[in-house]
Amino acid sequence: MSYQIAIDGPAGAGKSTVAKAVAERLGYIYVDTGAMYRAMALYLLRRHIDAADAEGISEASRHADITISYVDGAQQVLLNGENVTGLLRTEEVGNMASASSVNPDVRKKLVELQQALAARENVVMDGRDIGTCVLPDANVKVYLTASTGCRAKRRYDELSAKGEDCNLEEIEADIRERDERDMTREFSPLRQAGDAVLVDSSDMTVEEVIGKIISLVQGK
Ligand code: DC
Repeated sequence: MSYQIAIDGPAGAGKSTVAKAVAERLGYIYVDTGAMYRAMALYLLRRHIDAADAEGISEASRHADITISYVDGAQQVLLNGENVTGLLRTEEVGNMASASSVNPDVRKKLVELQQALAARENVVMDGRDIGTCVLPDANVKVYLTASTGCRAKRRYDELSAKGEDCNLEEIEADIRERDERDMTREFSPLRQAGDAVLVDSSDMTVEEVIGKIISLVQGK
């Protein structure tokens, strides 16, 4: 049986940084499921499909072939054969991913891909529904969160460091909107699994969060 670590939480809680580091230390594969929803969103944006057009999204999602591969341990996302990894981390794609991920056809397709990956490899998988839906029997489940202000500031620093022009109030409003949608959608909304450990990273360093998760794995 493969070993599975599930990390869920809202946007900007530090899931990907922490999950990547935990995977590296344990020699596991890191699976960024948000990137899969983002690749689907990129496909929809390129086809000019409206975020509110549920039927259009369902139809289009059938033609988006999303696959994952690894280069030097780093996850690459292929969309119909094109490596789109470098195009996924924009606010536009993130907002479309949040909007289109409410669609059950999109979710079904990507969840199947995630479950197939986790069945053959030891994984650290991060997302919104990993502990509740994708890997309900994961060995360790963490719900990683932080205050809204703290998450907005981190996203702002991340974008500023990349030289992107951004505004803290707008980012905070975006985060609130995305949380609201991710937590209230009908299909597999973001929520803490009953058996997940809550970790609030507001006053923790990245190293402390990584240490906490490794200690949960070792304590099992
Ligand atoms: O983690 P992220 O910001 O890359 O995710 C982008 C969006 O994708 C997020 O707002 C909701 C959706 N998502 C999801 O519904 N389920 C997941 N397991 C991962 C992401």
